Amino acid sequence: MPFGSWLIRWISRPFRGCLGESRRKGLNIENILRDNDRVMFVENGHGRKGILIFRQKVTKSGTGLIYAGVSFVDQLPVVFKVVKKKYRNLLLKEYMIMRSVWHRNVLPVWEIDFSIKGDLVIMRMDGAYYRDLYSYISAMKGYVTRALLDKWMKELVSGMCHVHSKGYVHGDLNYKNVLLTKDLSIRVADFGSADKKSKFKLTRYDPQFLPPELNPWRLEPIPYEYDPRLIDIWGVGVVLFFALTKHHPFTEIITMSSTDIHGNCPGETLIYEDDRKRCSPSYAKVVGKLMDYNAARRPKLNYIIEQNYFNETQT
Ligand SMILES: Nc1ncnc2c1ncn2[C@@H]1O[C@H](COP(=O)(O)OP(=O)(O)OP(=O)(O)O)[C@@H](O)[C@H]1O
Ligand SMILES: [Mg+2]
Repeated sequence: MPFGSWLIRWISRPFRGCLGESRRKGLNIENILRDNDRVMFVENGHGRKGILIFRQKVTKSGTGLIYAGVSFVDQLPVVFKVVKKKYRNLLLKEYMIMRSVWHRNVLPVWEIDFSIKGDLVIMRMDGAYYRDLYSYISAMKGYVTRALLDKWMKELVSGMCHVHSKGYVHGDLNYKNVLLTKDLSIRVADFGSADKKSKFKLTRYDPQFLPPELNPWRLEPIPYEYDPRLIDIWGVGVVLFFALTKHHPFTEIITMSSTDIHGNCPGETLIYEDDRKRCSPSYAKVVGKLMDYNAARRPKLNYIIEQNYFNETQT
């Protein structure tokens, strides 16, 4: 039984038992509900009551569950992030940040609701048809096409540049937090680790996406003078690297050997000739610059967007 609460057990009963005939007709709910759907009665924190329709569990998230459902009003597919009350403030913060960084490549979030009993908090957001970039790439045969790589590069850099322009740092940018719509467009999601640049602390992150200069600071607060946007910039580079090669950088001895005697590894040397053949010269250049081992040389995303090579691609 999901969530393990009495409320869920209660709403799991067939909906027909919950409402009278006339009310059911008025809501036209039978046209919306399928056999295994579950409904939850919620309140939005300002007294407005509503019904959420849960259709299928997508996955377990770090703090709760991700559920696919439909919107009661227009019957469009939506996705819910459901957490227990103790994570309420975290989810509210994530919601507020996602509303502040509204952009075509950032996942739209629509509402926060509270279960009537008050033990669950739910964020309603757009559904991403292909889930995340990792799931999509792991399931596909062969490699991503050059045109699609260029499209992803433009979208991911634009989306994250916008986040930075609003003064926020994502802090956990990895391939599972980059979602894909039905037309394979990018939507950056999971702002659960995000914060204002000035307040940012390293909390939850995937170590495979942590820039090398932060390795010594995993257990301690990052130095005051460190610009945390560099974490996202490196993360964008690693996500794009993975999209091209289907593996992580620095996983092979031969890749590590491209690090010079000072410990610097110019990102450009990470991409092999075979990989370069499958992407545009612009793509290889952008990935190389974002994944510069030397943080001082790693450019800001707005700088990348202004460069000719970024704008040379067809998409
Ligand atoms: N709107 C959505 N549409 C489709 N899939 C989604 C959506 N939101 C989340 N997911 C899927 O659920 C996963 C976990 O979501 P999210 O990253 O927001 O949760 P989290 O609490 O941060 O969990 P985690 O610790 O696993 O990152 C995503 O990687 C993605 O596969
Ligand atoms: Mg996540």
